[in-house]
Amino acid sequence: MLANPAQLGTDLPAWDAAWEPFLLWLGAVLSLDLYAYKPHQIRRRLLLYAEAAGYDNPLLYQAYLEQNPEALKRLTGRLTISTTAFFRDRELWQEFKQDWLERLLHRSAKPIRIWSAACATGQEVYSLAVLLAERRALDRVQLIGSDWSERALQQARSGIYRPEELEGHWDRLRPYLQAVGNHWQFQPELRDCIEWRRQDLFSSSFPKSCDWILCRNLLIYLHEGAQRRLVQRLLSGLKPDGRLWLGKSERLSGWKALGLNGLARHLYSPSLLSSSQLGV
Ligand SMILES: C[S@@+](CC[C@H](N)C(=O)[O-])C[C@H]1O[C@@H](n2cnc3c(N)ncnc32)[C@H](O)[C@@H]1O
Repeated sequence: MLANPAQLGTDLPAWDAAWEPFLLWLGAVLSLDLYAYKPHQIRRRLLLYAEAAGYDNPLLYQAYLEQNPEALKRLTGRLTISTTAFFRDRELWQEFKQDWLERLLHRSAKPIRIWSAACATGQEVYSLAVLLAERRALDRVQLIGSDWSERALQQARSGIYRPEELEGHWDRLRPYLQAVGNHWQFQPELRDCIEWRRQDLFSSSFPKSCDWILCRNLLIYLHEGAQRRLVQRLLSGLKPDGRLWLGKSERLSGWKALGLNGLARHLYSPSLLSSSQLGV
């Protein structure tokens, strides 16, 4: 039986150059640029999982993964961190509802497109769907949720959550849920209006002309150069008067040079228009 990685790692061997070809190999197999992430974090995770599988030699670990698709799949599922929650950072959702949602709904008669890039297991997208359903505006909005992790997306697509995952928001979410055994599932009314995409944000093609893009709590795992690269890509998916919503603790250094207006600590718009034109 494999050791639990959470209980390991206190005495991890230091990363050495012998692991670099392994990192390249894994990135190629997964079609994911593992060098975009903060090096100490991705290396530590790899060493943890190698150790949990009983390997401290990259060549042997690679051979093991090549012969064990299931082990490779498990590792893949754990490389990126999919921690999330409904209405994560509640005060920002309050702000979104009070300050931004009404403006958005009044501004646009056309279908409004909101994309949650890196949506993990879907709570962020269902939070949006619930807000819109409360406002009876669900039919005016196209919701897209995407993530690289197929494992995370499977849960997102199913819309099924454990009672613990709903804690703190039960009263609000309950009208949109139906019981499925010991779990709760979002009703088809909500599930059917969300489009899910498996997508690597660094290489896949993007939804275009979005009114809002949420890319929350991914940048913190990326090094600065990759953060800038990603933000530039995301900008290309935004309408000129669109909004980019980042995580609460994510700070973009040099955002002006990236072509952004800072509207709030976590909120940006493309800087082609002045603030007065944007109505902020
Ligand atoms: C911490 S979760 C954030 C979830 C949600 N946005 C939130 O703030 O609660 C980060 C997500 O980014 C995804 N991710 C990491 N690298 C990615 C990439 N290159 N392309 C797309 N998604 C990626 C992970 O799979 C993970 O689900």
